[in-house]
Amino acid sequence: MRERVTPASVQAAVQRCIVPGCHSVFGIRDRIYVCLRCGGPLEIHCAPDPQNNANLLRKQWEARAACANPLDRSGVWRYRQLLPFDASTPVVTLFEGNTPLYDAPRSAEYSGLALLRLKHLGCNPTGSFKDTGMTVAVTQAALLGTRTVVCASTGNTAASLAAYAARAGLQCAIILPRGQITTAKLAQSMDYGAAVLEIDGNFDDAMRVVRDLAADPSIYLANSINPFRIEGQKTVAFELLQQCAWRVPDNVVVPGGNMGNSSALAKGFDELLSLGLIDRLPKLHVVQAEGAAPLAHLFAHLDQDQVHRDASSLPNRITPVEHPQTLATAIKIGAPVSWQKSLRGVLQSGGQILTVSEQEIADAKAVIGRDGIGCEPASATTLAGIRKMAASGTIGRGESVVAVLTGHVLKDPDYVSHYHRGSLSLGASDDEKEQAAQTISGAFCNPPERVAATKDAILETLDRRQRRTSPSGTKG
Ligand code: F0G
Repeated sequence: MRERVTPASVQAAVQRCIVPGCHSVFGIRDRIYVCLRCGGPLEIHCAPDPQNNANLLRKQWEARAACANPLDRSGVWRYRQLLPFDASTPVVTLFEGNTPLYDAPRSAEYSGLALLRLKHLGCNPTGSFKDTGMTVAVTQAALLGTRTVVCASTGNTAASLAAYAARAGLQCAIILPRGQITTAKLAQSMDYGAAVLEIDGNFDDAMRVVRDLAADPSIYLANSINPFRIEGQKTVAFELLQQCAWRVPDNVVVPGGNMGNSSALAKGFDELLSLGLIDRLPKLHVVQAEGAAPLAHLFAHLDQDQVHRDASSLPNRITPVEHPQTLATAIKIGAPVSWQKSLRGVLQSGGQILTVSEQEIADAKAVIGRDGIGCEPASATTLAGIRKMAASGTIGRGESVVAVLTGHVLKDPDYVSHYHRGSLSLGASDDEKEQAAQTISGAFCNPPERVAATKDAILETLDRRQRRTSPSGTKG
């Protein structure tokens, strides 16, 4: 659906290189993805608007959240003063955002915290956080007169782009590593009518191909290297703070793959701070799967004091992981494109970048499930990481923590089923056959039970389950 933006948008917006010492500036409608001078990452920069007074914004956003106007119903376009579009822009929206913030008592107990909240971005229209960025990227694509939108993907970006392209009437091509995308995600892209193009290779190979493709003027690249994706995704920080009644959580924890999400949240929090809507930054922590953790490795060897003294000493190279491995296929990425923005954001906030094992991810996912909140494996890196940080004292028991869940539980039902039946193992997929399989034990497993078709047999089974207490303290 296309809607008109109401008046009063950002005036002087540009695309700007983030590399210290370059900061080259480009037009807001230039179809570029990296700095034309140094090849560095771009971000959208808007000159401060004196009309953007903190109290006024707060009031306006609260009012819009209760309004039926289609743009106000979108949890992204509701914050349109801070997006680089003017009032006449036809917006491509599926009413994204508006995702819940839940209390999660069992997950809190499991991680050793008094309280824990989960911001569930899997409740977006296509089931992942990508929709908050895609509404903006596809709106820009349509404005530029694009014929075809493309992306490389581990599945969620693809599903999201396919849906928004369909709404906009644009051709969509998604480039996927063959055999490495969950059935559910692939099914979405097929259903939304995209050209589903499978390559032999991994996500990083697909990413290289789409960057080549993007040189063609009829094509628009919708991966998170595109700063318009980040603009949309930054609004998650606005919605989260609004839900927290503008009280800043001490810690916000996100999974890390291609690093767009953490970059976007960092930008969102930074803008709220500049506008005076918050008075400090939450610590932003990024959690990667052990077998696909290039940024966590770089972070572990970083001289943070040196970087704080001199921002230009930030590394300008990352060593890719050649053969990334994880059952959390969404974040099976060895060469993340947005690592510089993400690292800058984490360092500014005083956060950490850490890794968790396959076993820790799987158990954390099941515990989140016991809170009645399903998520996909990549999202559960957050709880696993929080547990680790609480155990090491990085996060204090009484600190406020929000974990950002990025995808819906139904995105990867095979994983869930294998975990609960005790048959989940790393090394089972096509490209990993030569590896010895690593079996994941299901500490919280909950397989279906076969029972006789009688009242007594069923009641007896329920009594037995009631008496059994699971390791998280929850009843079976
Ligand atoms: N969680 C989920 C469910 C994801 O799909 C992704 C990324 C991430 C976390 C990591 O976010 O890349 O911004 O650091 N999925 C991409 C895709 C790569 O193609 O769907 P990130």
